[in-house]
Amino acid sequence: MIPAQQSTHEIHPIDGGALRHVCAHFATGVTVITTGLPGDSSGTTVNSFTSVSLEPPLVLFCLHQHSRLLPLLKESGGFVVNFLTRQQQSLAYAFAGRESADLTGVPHHRTQEGLPVLSEALAHLTCRLVEEYDGGDHTILLGRVVGLGAEEKPIDDPLIFYRGAMRELGGPVTVPPRS
Ligand SMILES: Cc1cc2nc3c(=O)[nH]c(=O)nc-3n(C[C@H](O)[C@H](O)[C@H](O)COP(=O)(O)O)c2cc1C
Repeated sequence: MIPAQQSTHEIHPIDGGALRHVCAHFATGVTVITTGLPGDSSGTTVNSFTSVSLEPPLVLFCLHQHSRLLPLLKESGGFVVNFLTRQQQSLAYAFAGRESADLTGVPHHRTQEGLPVLSEALAHLTCRLVEEYDGGDHTILLGRVVGLGAEEKPIDDPLIFYRGAMRELGGPVTVPPRS
């Protein structure tokens, strides 16, 4: 917890834990970024997704520099952003683990480019990797959207991440599973 007297003032130097704590107050959706061709595909849970530009159509996300997804992503030259539904909380935690990130047993299909799309996601964007930028201990990956799809039926609500916990819109906090 940040002491009250520091909460509205700059703190020098900025402590990583405090930064994480404060940024956790920004509610986001939850995505799984998938990449790789058949036989060598993988996914990572990401909430740093941002849409950037409509013309040209660009989006970005940030990946920590030691992520196993990074070499695979560079090799395939593209990725899919899958927006998760509130039903996919366990999937979000599964793809947040180093050991359990392959797509075996997870319903998915392939784009024209051969990239994996999570079939039960709320919506997806297929992207060609166009640029990488240094983002400190993360890499900022910029993608050009080359395909997209959304579930038109009102099937489900999105999964929300807020203050370190998965939530539903307007719903109670749900506690992460113990590993
Ligand atoms: C809700 C949530 C959001 C996350 N967002 C990111 C993110 O934006 N960037 C990132 O590098 N890791 C993020 N992570 C952590 C990665 O999912 C995790 O480090 C990764 O899957 C572990 O394998 P890897 O480090 O080899 O990629 C997030 C985890 C969770 C649970």
